[in-house]
Amino acid sequence: MLLSVESSCDDSAIALTSLASKELVYHAKLTQDEHAGLGGVVPELASRAHARDLVSILQELVGRYDLRRDVKAIAVSTHPGLSLTLLEGLMMANTLSIALGVPIISVNHLIGHIYSPFINNPEFVPHSALLISGGHTMLVRASGLGNMHILGASLDDSLGESYDKVARMLDLPYPGGPYIERLAASWDKALLNMPRPLLNSKGNALNFSYSGLKNAVRLAIARQRDTMVGKKQDLVESNFHLSGSTGAGGTLSKMDRTIGWGGAAGVNSAEIAASFEAAAIAHLISRLKNMIKSENAKGVKVKRLGVVGGVSANMAIKGAIDALAKRHGIKTLYPEMKYCSDNAAMIGRVGVDMYEMGMFSDNLKIGVHGRDRKITELI
Ligand code: KG4
Ligand code: ZN
Repeated sequence: MLLSVESSCDDSAIALTSLASKELVYHAKLTQDEHAGLGGVVPELASRAHARDLVSILQELVGRYDLRRDVKAIAVSTHPGLSLTLLEGLMMANTLSIALGVPIISVNHLIGHIYSPFINNPEFVPHSALLISGGHTMLVRASGLGNMHILGASLDDSLGESYDKVARMLDLPYPGGPYIERLAASWDKALLNMPRPLLNSKGNALNFSYSGLKNAVRLAIARQRDTMVGKKQDLVESNFHLSGSTGAGGTLSKMDRTIGWGGAAGVNSAEIAASFEAAAIAHLISRLKNMIKSENAKGVKVKRLGVVGGVSANMAIKGAIDALAKRHGIKTLYPEMKYCSDNAAMIGRVGVDMYEMGMFSDNLKIGVHGRDRKITELI
């Protein structure tokens, strides 16, 4: 088996994957909640939490498996991500590698996401990938290990980051994506006008930009606050409409309560969320259309589209991408819901393929890289 470790942001995770069948044998993950009220991940806090959580997962694992007998290699997510947190995972992985006398494998976290639809599936198939996470938004021609060509990427904020920033403006907790999705789904009236980024800018047909949209949201919120001064009661009511739905159990979920009772005073959070999400999705779809066209022009027919990363859990986004894919006869590949966000199972799945190819690192030379520089290939 191969043991894999993930600690690139705020999830600590360890997995065991069979080297023979590539099946996932074990996966445990702890997501930090210390950042919820802070608007984003604080690296120092996250690093301390990994030091606690990775050890507690390992302790549980050691109680269930004989690592000395069963583990033949260690894989660890080393780039990109937060250096301070990547180092926690690397320290654990490197120590295990030396103590067990097995090789260490350095895995690109983004390739991990691209592999996430192939967890428990031994056959990686070449495809085009849309990676939408908190750290990245990119289009990749994923032909195989060592052959992952970046076709386009965000020029500024990532899609997940823009969801998180809009959530923050609406006084919702981090990570804000699921809250915005929920609020947006509750709004069925007209949408506010939002900008359509990079529509006519030459050379950027496959790139993304979300910062203009974020600023438009900021202005819309400010406008609503100004107009609503003096009409406090109306506002409170418009922000309360979600607290009426009590879900299957009859009690309000934590999310219902947060959305119902929170929300920026004076702002119609659902209208803002829905308008933002619609524009964000329209931008995604326009990039995908451009990619299908430009790949076609290069003689690469897009037959499969992988949609991966934390934001791929969003049902509205999935719906829009599925509709586009259907129109073009493209098969979509999604990770299981629980493997959309960061996890060690995807790192293990890449690790097994790297093991087969003998792609090992030196225990004394392996290191972490926080940010990928301007790159065109994922390695
Ligand atoms: O892939 P991920 O777990 O971490 C990174 O590698 O960055 O992605 C986390 C991001 C966060 O920005 C979070 O708000 C977003 O994924 N996210 C969502 C949803 N669930 C998570 N965004 C929109 N809709 C969702 N349902
Ligand atoms: Zn990730």
